[in-house]
Amino acid sequence: MESQKKKGRYLRIHQQLKELLLKTTDLDARMATVVAVLHHKMDYFSWTGFYSLNKGELTVKTYQGPLACQVLEKNKGVCWAGINQGKTIIVPNVHLFPGHIACDSRSRSEIVVPVRDKKGNICGVLDVDSTSLNSFDEIDAVNLGKIVALIC
Ligand code: SME
Repeated sequence: MESQKKKGRYLRIHQQLKELLLKTTDLDARMATVVAVLHHKMDYFSWTGFYSLNKGELTVKTYQGPLACQVLEKNKGVCWAGINQGKTIIVPNVHLFPGHIACDSRSRSEIVVPVRDKKGNICGVLDVDSTSLNSFDEIDAVNLGKIVALIC
């Protein structure tokens, strides 16, 4: 998606989610709402969902898209890289990412954004896949970061 169009779309999504998330403090409801809005408004998102970190395991939560791995092998793949490095990971080509976990063989690029609780501790990740190479850039990283900050 062209940069200006992408920025404009994120701006509108952020505004919409800010209003929607005022309706409840329930984390599951908030995550489900974020996933639904993003997945249906961003046409290059082929899988959109959350994994939560619980007792040292990364377990899938609400998502939209093809069937996903329920528990991710520890310290392997993009989601665990986001957790362990404590930062957003952009993967232009998943086939070049050592240890990438392919839940959907059509996935070509990916972005993982850590989710932090009120104390600032990482409690999970937002994970988005695309079936095209190079789908994600700094605009996605910045804006998805702002969106996940609305959840907790
Ligand atoms: N590719 C991820 C696994 C989750 S799926 O993309 C939904 C990873 O390598 O951690």
